[in-house]
Amino acid sequence: MSTSMIPRLGVNIDHVATLRQARGESYPNIVDAARVCLEQGADQITIHLREDRRHIQDTDVESVGLVTKKFGKPLNLEMGCSDSIIEIALAIVPDWICLVPENRQEKTTEGGLDITNETNYQRVMNVCQRFKKILPTTRISLFIESDQTTLDHVTLLAPSIDAVEIHTGRFARDFISGNDLRDHLRQYQVAHSHIKGLGLSFHAGHGLTGESIIPLLEAKIFEEYNIGHWIISEAVFKSLGIVVRDLKNLINRY
Ligand code: PXP
Repeated sequence: MSTSMIPRLGVNIDHVATLRQARGESYPNIVDAARVCLEQGADQITIHLREDRRHIQDTDVESVGLVTKKFGKPLNLEMGCSDSIIEIALAIVPDWICLVPENRQEKTTEGGLDITNETNYQRVMNVCQRFKKILPTTRISLFIESDQTTLDHVTLLAPSIDAVEIHTGRFARDFISGNDLRDHLRQYQVAHSHIKGLGLSFHAGHGLTGESIIPLLEAKIFEEYNIGHWIISEAVFKSLGIVVRDLKNLINRY
């Protein structure tokens, strides 16, 4: 089964906030980043409010939400299952919530939620049920690996969620290393059939680039991609020369 729809692109703008936080300045402005992405066709803005607040801040969630609302596009809030972040999500009412594992020591979200662990499974189940009850208009996605044991646990959670987002980090790294991708693609096909059989949406994210996304687009199985680090990295080089040229022109006029 493949999807004939054009997949949606969610742009993760966390790393605009990473740059801002590095200097403690008010720029680069996260609201402008969301606006530019939406003006250029992004289907959704994704932000991750981490417990350590290393990039996105509480006030960003509200202000980015106002921009997405203005454009009539969804705000996708990635979050761990901690009580304090849950309270913020309940107050903000994002269009989508993507539950992710969170570990303060990690550089980024290094794997999917381990819902095969009974404690984690119960926690995720309780959080999803609470969101479904209190935020009936918010759709819920689980960031997971695509192995069969994880998929079997998704079956049990399916009534309380709307989608899964497959962690594509290992696929993306194998792509960059030139390794064989066939096992990943086969596993994604199996996962797609399983997830669509449950009536859920099938999303992808993590580590993807303009090149590594191509085999996934060709497979026509993912309905949504959430991409951040590569987009912001590319944006630096697509614009660095222009910014230097403009500043040099300004200096030359004096
Ligand atoms: N999707 C989820 C659930 C994530 O946690 C992340 C990273 O924050 C992304 C997508 C985007 O990953 P990347 O920045 O590597 O494109």
